[in-house]
Amino acid sequence: MRVACIDGDGIGPELVGSAREVLAAAADADGISIEFVDEPGGARTFTETGAPLAEGALERFRTTYDAVLKGPVGLPEVRHPDGTEAGVLGGVLRNGLDTYANVRPVRLLPGVRETGSPINYVIVRENTEGLYLSRGSGVRNDHAASDQLLMTRVGVERIVRFAFELARKRSGAPKDGVQRVTCVDKSNVLRSFAFFRAIFDEIAVQYPDVEADHRYTDAAAHDLVADPAHFDVLVTENFVGDMLSDLGAATVGGLGMCPSGNIGGTAAYFEPVHGSAPSLAGTGRANPTSQIRSAAMLLEHVGATAAARRIEAAVESAYAGGAVRVRPDGTPECGTEGVTEAVISRL
Ligand code: NAD
Ligand code: IPM
Ligand code: MN
Repeated sequence: MRVACIDGDGIGPELVGSAREVLAAAADADGISIEFVDEPGGARTFTETGAPLAEGALERFRTTYDAVLKGPVGLPEVRHPDGTEAGVLGGVLRNGLDTYANVRPVRLLPGVRETGSPINYVIVRENTEGLYLSRGSGVRNDHAASDQLLMTRVGVERIVRFAFELARKRSGAPKDGVQRVTCVDKSNVLRSFAFFRAIFDEIAVQYPDVEADHRYTDAAAHDLVADPAHFDVLVTENFVGDMLSDLGAATVGGLGMCPSGNIGGTAAYFEPVHGSAPSLAGTGRANPTSQIRSAAMLLEHVGATAAARRIEAAVESAYAGGAVRVRPDGTPECGTEGVTEAVISRL
């Protein structure tokens, strides 16, 4: 397999290094050998070359590699004159590759914290439109600024379908085992979200075996903390999904636990939910579990299911047995290397 790696900024290189070791060991155990190819990307790349991604990289991601593993990118000090960050790759990769589904599983591993109820749901975040379509085209002057949110029928239909198909493949919400998709929207106030909900309801009828559920965005934020065991799959707009996925991370041991996939019809890439955590860079304290589990999602996506499961099981056993403990601030007691070793020794 040829896997492209964007090691990214801040804690990115440490995390991608860790995930590469785990990926290689897990694949090797199944007779798969992996060739890793470095592709530069992010804030450092922007500072050095004037562009956040190398020439031709998008085309290579689509055609040359079997899979792409991405570290977190971006540095708050590397900005465009309009005030937005120059080193983030969200628009370049998600729109450039049309990876319309941002799949963000939130699962509490045994041993991480006592909650009294299981947490195991997936946020399906629309990844190519919504408020983020305004990226680069918002208006700003000294007195006012505006960005426009756009939802299209094609865009909403495909993300809602993706969510229902995913719910069919999953075993159901942890509390009652019901396969359920929750539409998270602000249709009580905004027309765009009323449009999103109407299309959700149209498509839900085509999946009578999956329960269609609704939450307004504010109530969803409350219930994801107060009653997380209710949720199975959630589907929502881009910006709302961005916020809820960090909120979910806080309930399962922090951002360093949470992986994600950016999935489209012809391309996909896998990365942690979090950013480059500049204050942790170089300290060896960041939790690489997010990046390691992103590697497992990558393997699952390319059909290397046994190797993917091997990684998930090793991660779970490392936490369940107490070999890895996360502090309240989300850093593991045994450090980045300790987590990597604990996982590899259990593959
Ligand atoms: P962040 O996600 O980097 O950090 C938020 C908090 O989580 C910090 O306290 C950080 O220390 C902690 N944290 C993050 N990852 C961790 C890990 N693996 N282990 C332990 N703790 C961890 O968010 P931020 O500080 O707002 O952003 C930093 C930079 O990252 C910005 O440039 C931002 O634009 C960028 N960013 C990139 C991505 C991405 O590449 N997908 C995602 C989010 C933010
Ligand atoms: C994420 C990040 C990105 C987003 C940023 C860095 C562009 O926060 O992947 O969640 O807002 O989508
Ligand atoms: Mn985010």
